[in-house]
Amino acid sequence: MCGIVGIVGRAPVAPLIVDALKRLEYRGYDSAGVATILDGRLDRRRAEGKLVNLERRIAESPLDGTIGIGHTRWATHGVPNETNAHPHFSNDVAIVHNGIIENFAEIRAELQADGYVFASQTDTEVVAHLISREIDRGAAPVDAAFAALKRLEGAFALAILFRGDEDLIVGARSGPPLAIGHGDGEMYLGSDAIALAPFTNIVTYLEDGDWVVLRRGGLEIYDMNGERIERAQQQSIGTRFLVDKGNHRHFMEKEIHEQPEVISHTLAHYIDFTERTTRSDALPFDFATLDRIAISACGTAYLAGLIGKYWFERLARLPVDIDIASEFRYREMPLVKNSAAFFVSQSGETADTLASLRYCRKEGIPIGAIVNVAESTIARESDCIFPTLAGPEIGVASTKAFTCQLSVLASLALRAAKERGTISAEEEKALVRALSETPRIASQVLKLDRQIEKVARELSHYKHALYLGRDTNYPLAMEGALKLKEISYIHAEGYAAGELKHGPIALIDENMPVIVIAPHDHIFDKTVSNMQEVAARGGKIILITDAKGAAKAGIETLETIVLPDVPEMIAPIIYALPIQMLAYFTAVFMGTDVDQPRNLAKSVTVE
Ligand code: AGP
Repeated sequence: MCGIVGIVGRAPVAPLIVDALKRLEYRGYDSAGVATILDGRLDRRRAEGKLVNLERRIAESPLDGTIGIGHTRWATHGVPNETNAHPHFSNDVAIVHNGIIENFAEIRAELQADGYVFASQTDTEVVAHLISREIDRGAAPVDAAFAALKRLEGAFALAILFRGDEDLIVGARSGPPLAIGHGDGEMYLGSDAIALAPFTNIVTYLEDGDWVVLRRGGLEIYDMNGERIERAQQQSIGTRFLVDKGNHRHFMEKEIHEQPEVISHTLAHYIDFTERTTRSDALPFDFATLDRIAISACGTAYLAGLIGKYWFERLARLPVDIDIASEFRYREMPLVKNSAAFFVSQSGETADTLASLRYCRKEGIPIGAIVNVAESTIARESDCIFPTLAGPEIGVASTKAFTCQLSVLASLALRAAKERGTISAEEEKALVRALSETPRIASQVLKLDRQIEKVARELSHYKHALYLGRDTNYPLAMEGALKLKEISYIHAEGYAAGELKHGPIALIDENMPVIVIAPHDHIFDKTVSNMQEVAARGGKIILITDAKGAAKAGIETLETIVLPDVPEMIAPIIYALPIQMLAYFTAVFMGTDVDQPRNLAKSVTVE
């Protein structure tokens, strides 16, 4: 999604704003811009494409001033070009925006009727003209901004400059996050604490409906009734992680290789490996008496939840209803009174997931958030947080967050089973032991990267791919397909292997590589039959299995990737690694922008 930054400072702000925008690049963008004020002159530089283009534009024509705002744009309304890049101007007003103004068309028509001329196709520009019209009608800048905010419907995080006041930035939040940074005689505003890290680690997070008046001396926060309110200042953890690629070509490659470490950190948060039992921190619900769990999420996080369903139902005999959040939020699912709702989200800001959470909150259901950003909106609106300790995930394609989400879900399913008495103490110890082996086995699997790179080169020549799996390997098949298509742009589908004969088999010929995820487990033989059906029609099989599976498959494959033997419980976590590496190397061969694939954003904060 878009990133916004604002600084009311003491030194020239343009280079500082660009540096802060660089820390927001992971959110995905297609153009960028900065505006500053100096001696009553409001000026801006904007550029299509990456920030390096904006930097070049500013070097050619410097921007002075110690107050400014900046933006990285992920296009929602209007093509990604310089004209539609933020900041947008209207007379004495400059604005940057993250989100979608849903009633922009009616406001635009109203303003055009009043003679305001639009330069862009964006929804954002209506806000600039709306404020400008209030000023033209005699309102002071802050009052003009407040009047305009009350007209807006939809999602927005905003930063606004006023030519007539070089010690004022107005910010507002309704949906997408906004953090305020506290400096020494300076104040900052950004989409998250990572953007503010170079300046401060003392931050205040605005809540939905807050708007703020920033001056060098401090801030005033108001609600949408215009009442003054207080929000806590806190030390941000966002500054602890200086994000860089290390000796990897891409953040995604680095994050794939961080998994053994971050999986072990995450597991240790939930499992006492000394006592070989799950920790029993207080919860706002009781697993022992719970009737159902609802899980909702988007994308990869949803697929983690889907694997979690298998674990909760198989181990703890606890029924799980799961749905993608964009469906969950509108279908008014009747929730079981004695149930709990879990929301899985790396960013903790995904709009559909947040809306689903708020539906459950309205229904009075206790909420658990499985999130990677402990200060995120989803975390702050939940009754309990189940952190994934993956550290900042910069690559748009989720990898380490996914396996940490699985680690949390496996640990919670184990805890539920223990507390519901569906497993014995001995069984618990055995499963804890299995979980404890995950980091070591994951490290072994990462050593298969050269073999996987070789088969990825082959895969990169195809236009389509089909992933098949059964049981917990079925959501993994969908995750493998999602990884491949989102970073290599090769069309891919993940299917339950048992569904092959119900349609997808029509796709099979020599142009259709089929990636089969099949450890030698209780249903391996069923999957062998599927592979025989594929082979009989000329399909090219890439089999991901273990030694027993490789020995028993009896099928000619394009490649067989043999993983170490793993306990069934942790197979989904381990088998996620080769499908991530397969997608990564394929994308590298395709020459795509692996860390910031086209059209994608790291956090989808609008619906
Ligand atoms: C996964 O590789 C994608 N980047 C995407 O599907 C992502 O998982 C989804 O948008 C959910 O994001 P969240 O985990 O931040 O809520």
